[in-house]
Amino acid sequence: MNKNFLSIDDWDNKTHKEFLYLTNEIKEGKYNKVLSNKNISLVFEKASLRTRVSFEVGIKKLGGNTIYLNNDDIGLGKRESVTHIAKNLNRWVDGIVARVYLHSTLINFTQNTDVPVINALSDLEHPCQALADMYTIYNQFSKFQDLNFVYVGDGNNIAASLSLIASKLGLNFTYSSPKKYQIPTAIFNKAKDIASISESQMNWIENPENAVKNADVIYTDKWVSMGMENEEKIRLSDFKDYQINKKLISKANKEVLIMHDMPAKEGEEIEFGVIDSDISLAYEQAENRLHSQTALLHKLFS
Ligand code: NVA
Repeated sequence: MNKNFLSIDDWDNKTHKEFLYLTNEIKEGKYNKVLSNKNISLVFEKASLRTRVSFEVGIKKLGGNTIYLNNDDIGLGKRESVTHIAKNLNRWVDGIVARVYLHSTLINFTQNTDVPVINALSDLEHPCQALADMYTIYNQFSKFQDLNFVYVGDGNNIAASLSLIASKLGLNFTYSSPKKYQIPTAIFNKAKDIASISESQMNWIENPENAVKNADVIYTDKWVSMGMENEEKIRLSDFKDYQINKKLISKANKEVLIMHDMPAKEGEEIEFGVIDSDISLAYEQAENRLHSQTALLHKLFS
């Protein structure tokens, strides 16, 4: 088994399906202290609430110790090279959870350490979020087949991981974004190839009202991701027709549910109040980050 977890595509379809059952067992408290006497370093180049807290709590539940390093502490690539940091950490810790700007930084970590490396968000993917999201959906609908999942907004790290995991679990995945903000072609083509075997649909529809027709779930993420603050003005204008609001929600299935990985910018990608409304799964998603990441650690360290 791959000792690292950098991408949804690190696991095959069967492994992803089995992982949902493991997450359930972990949620029910059926786990061993697989991290007892182990130290896990959390290397965070960017801010975090959910990812950091859920990893720290999960690691402690499994008996491990955490060492949180933010960018001011270690200056990845500035104070010293990523390679040197990786080689040093390798001498002390048993695992690395890293949130980075460049996905290549994660690859560098895997090439210069012997311990498991987990992607806690990069420019390309946010696979830990996607694991929790699919577990959330499965808990809600008890199925994936024939479920219409619609992502509206930026074709970013979140959208990329969601397209891959949807293809592996057999959900119909539609996403709607302006042309210039599509999911990277290599990733979406891979998702389409996988979906052709799982017999699910993968589509991009530029117009959000057309995209959400028949949606069982509508998902969105911030328009201005961390590190893109200098593009804020142009992004707010480019995405202005892509807000999840009452009007857009009214075009979907009557029982549609709303998902958001948070942090949310209310008034931008999502209308004020929707996150805290009855049709939102946002806090279930946040809770399930803990269960699915504890399951991930259990799997990689067992
Ligand atoms: N796309 C967002 C996700 C935050 C959890 C970002 O990269 O900032």
